[in-house]
Amino acid sequence: MLRLIAATLCLRCQRVRALPANLRSCATLSSAENRHTVEALYNLSVDIQKIRKLKGWVLHQSPVYVREVADLLKDMGASGAIVARILALHPEAILCSPDQVRAQRELWMSVCRNQTELVGIIEKFPASFFTSSSHHVNQRDNIAYFQSLHLNKRIITKLMASAPQSFSRPVGQNEVMVCTLQQAYLELGGEEANMRIWLQKLLSQNPFVLLKPPEVLRQNLLFLRDKGFTTAELLRLLSKLRGFVTELNPDSMRHTLAYAQDTMGCSEAELRGIVLECPALLYYSETILAERFQGLLGSGIRMAQIIETPTVLELTTQIVNYRIQRLRAHGYDIRTGSLKPLSGTKKDFEMSYGKLQLRRERPLFNPVAPLKADD
Ligand SMILES: *[C@@H]1O[C@H](CO)[C@@H](O)[C@H](O)[C@H]1NC(C)=O
Ligand SMILES: *[C@@H]1O[C@H](CO)[C@@H](O)[C@H](O)[C@H]1NC(C)=O
Repeated sequence: MLRLIAATLCLRCQRVRALPANLRSCATLSSAENRHTVEALYNLSVDIQKIRKLKGWVLHQSPVYVREVADLLKDMGASGAIVARILALHPEAILCSPDQVRAQRELWMSVCRNQTELVGIIEKFPASFFTSSSHHVNQRDNIAYFQSLHLNKRIITKLMASAPQSFSRPVGQNEVMVCTLQQAYLELGGEEANMRIWLQKLLSQNPFVLLKPPEVLRQNLLFLRDKGFTTAELLRLLSKLRGFVTELNPDSMRHTLAYAQDTMGCSEAELRGIVLECPALLYYSETILAERFQGLLGSGIRMAQIIETPTVLELTTQIVNYRIQRLRAHGYDIRTGSLKPLSGTKKDFEMSYGKLQLRRERPLFNPVAPLKADD
């Protein structure tokens, strides 16, 4: 019975939330703020101005459960300051009945390590926690399904927090996508023993992969196979691209690859080698690539150098220029050496930069280059 009432209330919150912004502001004009709500929020030191500015319509609703929701959060270990932050960020929370919040807490505690972790998640992703109880059954079934795949609890909570839509929809849709991914992995020669870890990495890197149509994955793999990638190479690409493989589509890849091949003046086989080394190339648009090639060539870098270290294309022109300057300050002329010290993540760069500095101190590195003082 209680659950039924909660569901009804929640459906109503849902309708309110679904109102277009212009209707909401009409409602704001025609009815006064709920004084009890404002006072209760004030007592909790919630930033009411922020709510008025962003989600003022919540202050006109009734019934609301400000005290009850705040007490439940405190009961989970949230401090007064955290409760105030959560309610300012996501005032819709006060529209959820205590029963609904308790049901959500129970659900999330089946995957969270402890309540401290749960409070941390609610602080970052309040909308994922304060969802409609009409999703409760789907959420529960999806949790059971992901647990049956023996996925790490941490991955399941990450998915629930960052892609809540995939938990509120029927479990069957997730099953289809997961099976498609697993099948593709096995068909490309992936080891069954490594599949769970592979899937886990893929889902943790791109939680939205589940929401993509399964056909997209197949189409993309077929397109790449047609481009001449071998099964083993496709598996490598699938592993390197991880979740991003579903963000691609054959049309954009066709454009990008044609543009890249044309610009670099290489053969199809060379292009495949470049893509294997820098799979990110597949999801850059022609415009982005054009800008990056221009930036690199404009700094005096030659095309042959880019072909040798294609991962430099992953960097924005701004980062490239900044790194070139720093390297130059240490006597490394990027136009004549390898682009290796230039590419990679920030950490990679700092590491090779550190090595350059060391070598400079024992003046083994490029001793004829003019040395500047440390900045
Ligand atoms: C706000 O705090 C005052 C003083 O503690 C209390 O009397 C009042 O009932 C509270 N109002 C609400 C709506 O909680
Ligand atoms: C709760 O989990 C967090 C990890 O999210 C951990 O750091 C913390 O020590 C745990 N606290 C308790 C009381 O077990």
